[in-house]
Amino acid sequence: MRKNKNLYADATIEAVHVGRRFPVPGGSFEALKDIHVKIPEGKLTILKGRSGSGKTTLMNILGALDAPTKGKVLIGGRDIGKLSERARDNLRRTQMGFVFQAVSLIPSLNAFQNVEFSMRMAGKHKNRKARVEECLKMVGLGNRMNHMPMEMSGGEQQRVAIARAIAHNPKIIFADEPTAELDSAMAAEVTRLLWELTRKEGVTIVMTTHDTGLMDAGDILIELENGTQVSVTEVNHEEALEGTAADATTGSVPETPRETAGEESGPKAAEAPESKLAETPRETTAKKTKPEKALKRGRKERSGDHG
Ligand SMILES: Nc1ncnc2c1ncn2[C@@H]1O[C@H](COP(=O)(O)OP(=O)(O)OP(=O)(O)O)[C@@H](O)[C@H]1O
Ligand SMILES: [Mg+2]
Repeated sequence: MRKNKNLYADATIEAVHVGRRFPVPGGSFEALKDIHVKIPEGKLTILKGRSGSGKTTLMNILGALDAPTKGKVLIGGRDIGKLSERARDNLRRTQMGFVFQAVSLIPSLNAFQNVEFSMRMAGKHKNRKARVEECLKMVGLGNRMNHMPMEMSGGEQQRVAIARAIAHNPKIIFADEPTAELDSAMAAEVTRLLWELTRKEGVTIVMTTHDTGLMDAGDILIELENGTQVSVTEVNHEEALEGTAADATTGSVPETPRETAGEESGPKAAEAPESKLAETPRETTAKKTKPEKALKRGRKERSGDHG
């Protein structure tokens, strides 16, 4: 095959009528049914839904860790199911980063070495030291580089895991319940950090959570129920931050943000890549909110935690 460095220059992920059946004793279980959605690049997409709704199953399929039994997944327009095993491995290793619920840092390596190790594994050798430092600073751990995992809090360890996932400049990061083991304040901070990384690094991030308090921080919310996609919601953070100064004084995120379905039908929506999302979702709405607000609330709760 011809080598093309920019093969995955476009990190848009499309699930095309994806289904997944697992064999179980006496038959099979349909864990995903007809998931049809487009995840835009450079945005934070949150897969939400109850335990057992299919979030991890879908994320594993989008991240080429598992294959659908129906439909296909396209990354940058290419069907990843058609890649050889080797090409898929290469795609995962060089273009993707993974963050999991249980932080899996190497206990005998400090923060710097943990991040550096994953860059080596991805074959990135250029400017390694500077990039490791840059990533650890980006996650707010410039002063913890020499700390061993056991000398860091759970949230700090998770932030090292995020630095590790981004260090090799992947196009896409998959984070499965990255905040599940954190308190609500730290969970909000880690989620905002992921959102900021989409803006600073241009990385496409797909995260799962069932924590309703975090969902406002996403740009796209895909809700699953019993393996079915029940809604796709777009949140325009930038527009909200630009426009509504008066609203900014309210200080905390409304539990149910204002629904502004249909409001995005102007020229802005037509230009926006996310307007092409979810060609046939059962329901698509657009909301505006502020990622900052979710964090403010998190901070409040946190000061309460320690107070
Ligand atoms: N290998 C498997 N074999 C059979 N059934 C499976 C398998 N993996 C997952 N399932 C089933 O598929 C459904 C979706 O599982 P999944 O792990 O995707 O849920 P989830 O939304 O990530 O849940 P949680 O929030 O608890 O992590 C569940 O009912 C689960 O029991
Ligand atoms: Mg899961």
